[in-house]
Order: sequence, then structure tokens, then C-alpha cells
Amino acid sequence: MRPKLVVGNWKMNGSRANNATLLAGIVEGLGNGKANAAVCVPAPYLQQCADTLAGSKLAWGAQDVSIHASGAYTGEVAASMLVDFACRYVIVGHSERRAYHGETDQQVAQKALAALNAGLTPIVCVGETLAQREAEQTNAVVGKQLSAVLELLDGDAVERIVVAYEPVWAIGTGKTATPAMAQEVHAQLRGQLRERSAGAAEKVAILYGGSMKPDNAQELMSQADIDGGLIGGAALKAADFLAIIHAA
Ligand code: G3P
Repeated sequence: MRPKLVVGNWKMNGSRANNATLLAGIVEGLGNGKANAAVCVPAPYLQQCADTLAGSKLAWGAQDVSIHASGAYTGEVAASMLVDFACRYVIVGHSERRAYHGETDQQVAQKALAALNAGLTPIVCVGETLAQREAEQTNAVVGKQLSAVLELLDGDAVERIVVAYEPVWAIGTGKTATPAMAQEVHAQLRGQLRERSAGAAEKVAILYGGSMKPDNAQELMSQADIDGGLIGGAALKAADFLAIIHAA
């Protein structure tokens, strides 16, 4: 049985003052729940997370990582630097990075590899646009996105990734995939992992993201292949984020 995992993706939101209140509220409300929880914050706030969350049950991470180890790459952040701030996770291939920064499936795979090589857990995002869903290309699109990662990673490394299915049309729109729609894609992704190895299929958590809220979280996460959530807007309020964690 895979443990549930709920990750907040703060995107480009936050300030030192607001973060302090939000992080304290989450830590206070975590209690003895079984689900694992983490926040992925803007890079400038990683030190604040390290200072505030060390020793707590809330892990932290970043929202992107460079494929390069070091050097003349202005503006980029290396995986080893995230490790310096005691990150556990890094999101790679979020649809906002694919759309606004032109990240390709191959680059996303290289980012996952860079993260794993540094000892981080990459949260690999996949998902189709509305046009792709309407053209019945969902399975092909997410299949290709995951394949690029599976092709680059050797052997057991695949077992150390997390996958997040985020239909682009459901992100920040208030439209959520129905539990059945999400489960169908998650089952396909699980099958793809199984083709690689039984261990990968069993160990890799597949999260759902896209307008997950306190009132739909439980039903989504009760599906057989939905192992948790990657939460945007609802991760910015301690009460909402905690309600989702406790629903897991
Ligand atoms: O990565 C989380 C995400 O894109 C979903 O955002 O605001 O729809 O929960 P939201």
C-alpha cells in the first residue's frame, strides 16, 4: 500500500510574512495524520522553509531545477543547490513551464535525472490541454510525456520518482476531472510504469492536480491509482490545504 502524498505548489506566490503564518498554520494542524505532506515554494523562500520546517512533518521543495550541474547558466538553480537547502522534492515539467518556457519532454526528463542524481525526488508533471482531450489525444500525450522520462532513467531510478497527472484545462479553472476521468488516466500511467517493472508500478506515487479542493479531494484520492494530490490555489490557505491532507 503506497502512502498518500499531498504537495502544495505555491507557484509564484508568497512573502516572508505570509509564508510564516501559512507554514506555522500547516505545521500546527498536521497532527498525526498518515499522509505525507510537502510544500514546493519559490526558490527565495527555501531558506525560510529550512529554518521553519526542520524537524517538522512537513517537507519542502522547489518548483524547477536546471539540467546543468553548475556554470554559466544565468538565472538557473542546480539540483545540488536545492539539496543545500534540505529540499526533498522538486517539481519538473509543470505545464506552466512547458507552456511559458517551452520545456520539451526531453528537457523535463533531463531535469528528473538531474534531481535524482542529487538525491531529490522529482515530481514529474504530465497532462493534456483541452484541445488535446477533445481530440481524444489524452492517452497519447501523457504517454509520450512519461515515456521520455522512462527512457532516460536507468533501472530502479524510476522507482524514486513521483508522477503528477495535471490536466491543463483543470488547472486554476475550478474545473476538476471527475474521479473516473482521472482514474482512467492514472491507470494508464500505472500500466506504463508496470511495463518498465512491477516495482515501479507498485512504488511510484501518482498524484492528481487540477482544482483539487477540500470538497473533492476525498473522492479523487479514494480512486485505486490516485495516491495523493498536487495542489495549487488551495495550498495557499492553511485550512484548505490541511483539509486536503486530512482527506488523504
Ligand atoms: O501544480 C498544481 C496545479 O497546477 C493545480 O493548480 O490551482 O488548479 O490547484 P490548482
